[in-house]
Amino acid sequence: MDHFLYRDGALFAEDVPISEIAAAVGTPFYVYSTATLLRHFKLFDDALDGMDHLVCYAMKAASNQAILKTLAQAGAGMDVVSGGEYLRAKAAGVPGDKIVFSGVGKTADEIRIALTGGIRQFNVESEPEMEVINAIAMELGVIAPITVRVNPDVDAKTHAKIATGKSENKFGIPIARAFEVYAHAATLPGLEVIGIDVHIGSQLTELAPFELAYTKVAELTEQLRAEGHNIRRLDLGGGLGIPYTRANDAPPLPVEYGALIQKTLGHLGCEIEIEPGRLIAGNAGLMVSKVIYVKSGEGRDFLILDGAMNDLIRPAMYEAHHDIVAVNEPAPGVEQQPYDIVGPVCETGDTFAKQRNMPPLAAGDLVAFRSAGAYGAVMSSEYNTRPLIPEVLVHGDQFAVIRERPSFDEIINRDTIPEWL
Ligand code: LLP
Repeated sequence: MDHFLYRDGALFAEDVPISEIAAAVGTPFYVYSTATLLRHFKLFDDALDGMDHLVCYAMKAASNQAILKTLAQAGAGMDVVSGGEYLRAKAAGVPGDKIVFSGVGKTADEIRIALTGGIRQFNVESEPEMEVINAIAMELGVIAPITVRVNPDVDAKTHAKIATGKSENKFGIPIARAFEVYAHAATLPGLEVIGIDVHIGSQLTELAPFELAYTKVAELTEQLRAEGHNIRRLDLGGGLGIPYTRANDAPPLPVEYGALIQKTLGHLGCEIEIEPGRLIAGNAGLMVSKVIYVKSGEGRDFLILDGAMNDLIRPAMYEAHHDIVAVNEPAPGVEQQPYDIVGPVCETGDTFAKQRNMPPLAAGDLVAFRSAGAYGAVMSSEYNTRPLIPEVLVHGDQFAVIRERPSFDEIINRDTIPEWL
């Protein structure tokens, strides 16, 4: 459920008409609903009720500081995957002891930033990385808390580009090598091994792959404890999918996911961490765009929008579906017609949807891409020298621009010209 609903024929974000935001900031733009963000966070927090736990929002999904602050004030920790994300979380006021650092290739500089600023734990993905964290911790005279990310060789049954838990993927260490790696970690004086980490992929629409992975983690926990390792925290990653089509998607609910965690791991008495990104931010955000032209092609009509693949790359990159709705609610019974919905960027990949049924639309009309809050703004670029589009946060009847649209000058003046030119 989200807070983007029609009222008297107009699409609202909470209590603010989308058309009012469009008039204030211009199109295209992203808009997020505070109530939806908080609702989704609370669903996870409640689902783990009864277990010692921390929900660490995977901020890669939507990393604007206003979003981070909204969630952090509700009690969320953060899952970061770069030095930049770490510093952004800190800038948003998240304390280091609520930040976990994931990612397959943390650089020495990034490790140093986190160890200096304070960190809840590193989720270590390889032995060479473990050695580097150890060396930097010793140099700084601190102890780095770590988990080791294991790769459980489980098929997440999701898009190949976002599946991470199969043995052929680059992530984690093979679960079969866990003994060796934990024994090695235990010899490194700069590290304190506190737990196990696993993340098998994103946009999972079934619980079965989680169950397989978490069952393997439960077994490994007992085996490692038997070897003398004090395993007391389990980071279970993110990945729970969201409904992208209103009509027929029904992925498992956070409460069902929480019950599965309780069932597979509850008996171990470990502190549980999860790292959801998409489910918190995805349906809490829209991308709003304007029709520039309606063009009649050979046997098809094109809706040419002012938003493009550089603003929302998911359709081009993952063949992802986003529901696209008219901001002015179509009158009941109005006949829909198929359009190819495209942006102005100069490649055919800049196609959001083919032959999508929409109410009749004209130049100047606004449309909203649903489920665009996660992996939308954060994956945008300035391809075609198109300015990054603004982000707006709604809170009840208030809204605020949380990232301005840069001017052309700001973009162009970032280039520097070598003296020989
Ligand atoms: N933890 C780790 C270690 C991750 O790699 C990810 C996502 C998450 C948590 C959060 O997963 P979520 O709950 O959001 O599924 N750009 C792609 C998604 C990439 C996901 C990468 N890792 C997309 O637009 O579908």
